Amino acid sequence: MKQTILVTGASSGFGLMVATQLCKQGHTVIGTSRNPEKHQLPFKMLALDIADDNSVKDFGKELFKHISQIDLLINNAGYYLSGLAEETTIEQGRQQFETNFWGTIKLTNVLLPYFRKQRFGKIITVGSIMGLLNVPDASYYGASKHALEGYFKSLRFELNEFNIKVAMVEPMGFKTNLLHSSVTAETKINDYDSYRNKVSAFANDLFTNAPEPTPVINTIMKLVENKNPKFSHPVGKGASVFLAIQLFAYKAFESSVIKKINNYKSN
Ligand SMILES: NC(=O)c1ccc[n+]([C@@H]2O[C@H](COP(=O)([O-])OP(=O)(O)OC[C@H]3O[C@@H](n4cnc5c(N)ncnc54)[C@H](OP(=O)(O)O)[C@@H]3O)[C@@H](O)[C@H]2O)c1
Repeated sequence: MKQTILVTGASSGFGLMVATQLCKQGHTVIGTSRNPEKHQLPFKMLALDIADDNSVKDFGKELFKHISQIDLLINNAGYYLSGLAEETTIEQGRQQFETNFWGTIKLTNVLLPYFRKQRFGKIITVGSIMGLLNVPDASYYGASKHALEGYFKSLRFELNEFNIKVAMVEPMGFKTNLLHSSVTAETKINDYDSYRNKVSAFANDLFTNAPEPTPVINTIMKLVENKNPKFSHPVGKGASVFLAIQLFAYKAFESSVIKKINNYKSN
């Protein structure tokens, strides 16, 4: 069945690939970007900055000039704030939450009245494996994604009442523009020099060797068709093993991360 689908962050990475594929399949797709004029795409692009209250409000008014009903919201927009916790300013952390957490929720709130009125709908949110476990150098990013997990788990119960389905996709590292668009900690504390170098080398390795995003796109495409999806969908090589280890043997998980990081030389 052809659906009307909103994909946030459709200018790049996962969002662009999913929106393009959905469009090819004949669905009506609305994508968003902070700069829609920069992107010539086969689907309609609207302006949206999820971190900006006015932009979210304006978007809410604009969206329904282009569509009359909505089947699916794919909450995908987000960015990556990296850096050691103490070297990251609280303001940087707040901004990370303004986009990844509050922005996602504000936009979801714009659509909920429509979904409730229709008595159907689906919300797929792109979280991260770092919303289910965490590693160093990503305290605020991981926290923002953990927060989404908690929020949507609760919302899923409440929307069941209205036949509105809620699911999360939790990718491991995949090749997109996430690293290029990332923000890093603003301050440097000398005590961390050696550790920071090792952690950066570890993180750079992960990103440099990250696979192509096909498994994430395939997971989202299957979820689009799934009438009654389960909540959580971790994606990536070894994701379920990592999750099982950190759930049932946290000390072993922690030791293996510490060992991996210590194997990198600090320069
Ligand atoms: N790549 C990975 O390894 C990975 C792993 C786990 C989770 N994720 C998550 O996957 C999602 C997509 O990321 P990606 O990897 O595809 O990265 P990407 O290529 O950098 O794409 C990010 C998208 O988010 C949009 N965006 C960023 N800030 C925004 C804001 N304030 N308001 C509206 N849109 C905003 C960008 O659009 P404009 O710049 O055009 O506005 C862009 O389209 C993110 O939520 C990310 O946390 C990625």
